[in-house]
Amino acid sequence: MLTTIFTSLGIAWSISILWGIVKFARLYFLTPSKLHRYVYRSSSSNGVGGQEKEQEKEEPWAVVTGASDGIGRSLVQELAAAGLNIVLHGRNATKLEKVQAELQKAYPARSFRLLLADAGLVRGAAAVGSDSSPGDSNGEVAHGIDVEAMVKRELESLHITVLVNNVGGGVKNPLMGDFTEYSPRQNTEALSKESLFAMHLTHAMLPQLRNNHDGALVISVGSMADIGIPLTATYPASKAFNKTLFETLALEDRLARMENREGNAGRRSDVEIMYVRLGDVTNVSWRRGTESLLMPDARTAARAILARIGCGRSVVTAYWAQELLRLTCEAMPAWVRDRFLLWVMSGWRAGVERNGGDASASIAGGGIL
Ligand SMILES: NC(=O)c1ccc[n+]([C@@H]2O[C@H](COP(=O)([O-])OP(=O)(O)OC[C@H]3O[C@@H](n4cnc5c(N)ncnc54)[C@H](OP(=O)(O)O)[C@@H]3O)[C@@H](O)[C@H]2O)c1
Repeated sequence: MLTTIFTSLGIAWSISILWGIVKFARLYFLTPSKLHRYVYRSSSSNGVGGQEKEQEKEEPWAVVTGASDGIGRSLVQELAAAGLNIVLHGRNATKLEKVQAELQKAYPARSFRLLLADAGLVRGAAAVGSDSSPGDSNGEVAHGIDVEAMVKRELESLHITVLVNNVGGGVKNPLMGDFTEYSPRQNTEALSKESLFAMHLTHAMLPQLRNNHDGALVISVGSMADIGIPLTATYPASKAFNKTLFETLALEDRLARMENREGNAGRRSDVEIMYVRLGDVTNVSWRRGTESLLMPDARTAARAILARIGCGRSVVTAYWAQELLRLTCEAMPAWVRDRFLLWVMSGWRAGVERNGGDASASIAGGGIL
């Protein structure tokens, strides 16, 4: 009797492990990216403006935030190669123009536009810790980036099929610090850059994306830090916010389809909404160094993000080796996982401090930022 029970349990356990392996292999090695779904011309044109301008508006566009460096800079290369025109967002015109020139040279048939906005200064967030922030009659802050107005002004006339909310990266100075080491201003700017900007941008653009004929894609570039790691408190917290927000938006979209709800133009096309996690990535603005299995470079990370499009999951880790690390962390008892995180972050802080703030000193195998 006991032997039968143990044999059955053993068989069930083996089947579940095998099933896990099959699912993993299908996700990371057998399912091709469906990015091509979002590379299609618009069927409608309003006939206003020159022929060339009209043609440009019918072409498919992607908007990528934080495109002047790191993973964003690699994402725009990959998206342009896939046939998309790109709106490059950032705050530094000189850096963005350099990326634009590189892209134009490599992909002369594509168009590239710039969108300048400091994502850390979303209206409201811009006032925290600042002495000169007058409130308007509604008690709202009069200055700061009005993302809805920016979308109306700069993006509404384009046939946008892809939005990548990539801008982020936490507070850079100090890179590793206790919560109270950061000023209210730094914490709020980090939240604005990481979450509020993406929330407002997605809110402003969703109606437009839903009016497309053949669907659209929204990606939030996430982090394995969303489980909560010490020494960068607002960073994991904002990533966890993004994870829940975009997961929920994906569910809302499914609900609307289930109930057959129409969008504001009498139709509502499917919008694929994803939160795509990364672990440590090297060759970004704040970390240079040799890539490894657990720390791919920005180009590999960008490819991994785009490879997950159409995988059927709204929350997914981009890169297979980092997913193995995440699964290992998930399988650990909470106290073991916490100890591991403390060990990793303590080692990292010590390394960064030894090197005068240089993050390339991060200990290999941390893998979780
Ligand atoms: N690198 C990693 O290990 C790692 C791991 C997991 C997740 N991620 C996520 O990947 C995304 C990209 O990170 P990354 O490592 O590629 O960072 P990065 O190299 O520092 O690039 C960040 C990009 O965002 C722009 N940016 C930063 N602050 C901005 C602001 N206030 N307003 C407008 N643009 C701003 C930067 O512009 P400037 O050139 O002007 O600074 C740059 O183009 C982030 O969401 C990050 O959380 C990164």
